[in-house]
Amino acid sequence: MTLINGLSGLFPQEGNIPEEFTISDPIVQRRYLCNGEMRIWDGPMQEVLSPVCVESEHGLQQRVLGSYPLLTEKESLAALEAACSAYGNGCGTWPAMSVEERIRHIEDFAFRMKEQRREVVKLLMWEIGKNLPDAEKEFDRTVDYIHDTVDALKDLDRTASRMVIEQGVIGQIRRAPLGVVLCMGPYNYPLNETFTTLIPALIMGNTIIFKPPKLGVLLHQPLLEAFRDSFPPGVVNTIYGDGQSIIGPLMASGRIDVLAFIGSSSVADILKKQHPKPHRLRCILGLEAKNAAIVLPDANLDLAVQECVLGSLSFNGQRCTALKILFVHRKRVDSFLGRFCEEVDRLICGMPWEAGVQLTPLPEAGKTGYLSDLIEDARSRGARVVNHRGGEIRGTFMRPAVVYPVSSGMRLYAEEQFGPVIPVCPFDETEEPMRYVTESDYGQQVSIFGTDPDVISGLIDVLVNQVCRVNVNSQCQRGPDRFPFTGRKDSAEGTLSVSDALRVFTIRTLVATKQNQTNNTLIGTILRERKSRFLTTDFIL
Ligand code: G3H
Repeated sequence: MTLINGLSGLFPQEGNIPEEFTISDPIVQRRYLCNGEMRIWDGPMQEVLSPVCVESEHGLQQRVLGSYPLLTEKESLAALEAACSAYGNGCGTWPAMSVEERIRHIEDFAFRMKEQRREVVKLLMWEIGKNLPDAEKEFDRTVDYIHDTVDALKDLDRTASRMVIEQGVIGQIRRAPLGVVLCMGPYNYPLNETFTTLIPALIMGNTIIFKPPKLGVLLHQPLLEAFRDSFPPGVVNTIYGDGQSIIGPLMASGRIDVLAFIGSSSVADILKKQHPKPHRLRCILGLEAKNAAIVLPDANLDLAVQECVLGSLSFNGQRCTALKILFVHRKRVDSFLGRFCEEVDRLICGMPWEAGVQLTPLPEAGKTGYLSDLIEDARSRGARVVNHRGGEIRGTFMRPAVVYPVSSGMRLYAEEQFGPVIPVCPFDETEEPMRYVTESDYGQQVSIFGTDPDVISGLIDVLVNQVCRVNVNSQCQRGPDRFPFTGRKDSAEGTLSVSDALRVFTIRTLVATKQNQTNNTLIGTILRERKSRFLTTDFIL
């Protein structure tokens, strides 16, 4: 649907939602997974509202999708107990299992997960407003990630399946699990980003407590049985509810060994401080970012516009990797803005399931109000919205706003808007955007657009020490998943990629012995008679 004249017809009436995408009855999820059992909660529930509104005789209303349990400290600590006992100080069934056997369990889970694709994709659309192709992509990318993780682990294990002899010492070095991992993902990739920590943590022999993000909870429900049936009891446990009530006690217990959290740095700091022995806590954090695009005077504008539209507005700008501020050289800014606004205004707004839709309603409560405040602040300091009807709101939807000229002192210059508002700053000297990147609290990625090899290489050499990925004539992004994904300053802690993730959820541990007749005979017997799961030269095929 192209809405040229306002947003009045944007949201559907109940009867106009295509049959295959409807959710006719609210999903009342009372189940949660603890110690291998599906437990039933009969306490207070959290209502789940969709970002999708429905037109009715009572006006525009957010569709009620269902509800999930608001568990308490008691259930949360029961999940912890289950995870700790499944780990059994590293002697539980799961951590003690051979790599090959753990791989079989993970593959079984992936098989069961694939059977739930339709349901999970539908919920991704309804719960967070992700359009159909992106929701399908999120699911398929996650399944691919699982298979790639299995391949990476086989490689890692093959490398470790040999003895090393150094200075008269024989050793075998492997990676061992760390213990209980608390996994919390973000609402914008509730499935993918959660699983990019949960799966590697799991496959390496850790046990898991998993709390879905505040938005994007119900979509995990179709996978609960797969978790229960694919792993020994207590290896994966799920908790739901208010973070303060259920996460605080977990951290304060001191029994969480790894915190895998994608969210804000302020919450990450609170959680870390709650741990009584912070030196025992390993953290894998994906945090805020304010990635800049720098469009140089000699940039190929077609390419720059195309990548900046994708970079700033894919999933309505709700990606940690989104381009959140565009610096454009003053010589090209008028032509850039003309083309950029034309492309932005051409994007199709609508419901997530509608063909070709690129812009959809926003799931966070109060988000359109927050974004309007940012625009107002910029307006009051001399900027304007330069695209057609940019910033127009209907219910939970906001038409993207291109705001120009943005400068320091405006909130949009520094705050991570995480939505469809694109600040554009003109610059005369390259030092200006470079200073922005250097002085920013964030350090995830940057995109530079230009064609002069001398200028581009000069910028690359400086920027690689400010951020963790410099994209040339390309938008910022996390993928491909085999590339490292991390950030400096307030943007991340730890590095994720298919292979890096296997490392971050483990510690290297080794068996060593001085070479002499007694030890050579002993080690030889253990290997030949396959007496140890650790000390073995077995090779996974
Ligand atoms: O929200 C942050 C995601 O990691 C971004 O992933 O660049 O593939 O959209 P993406």
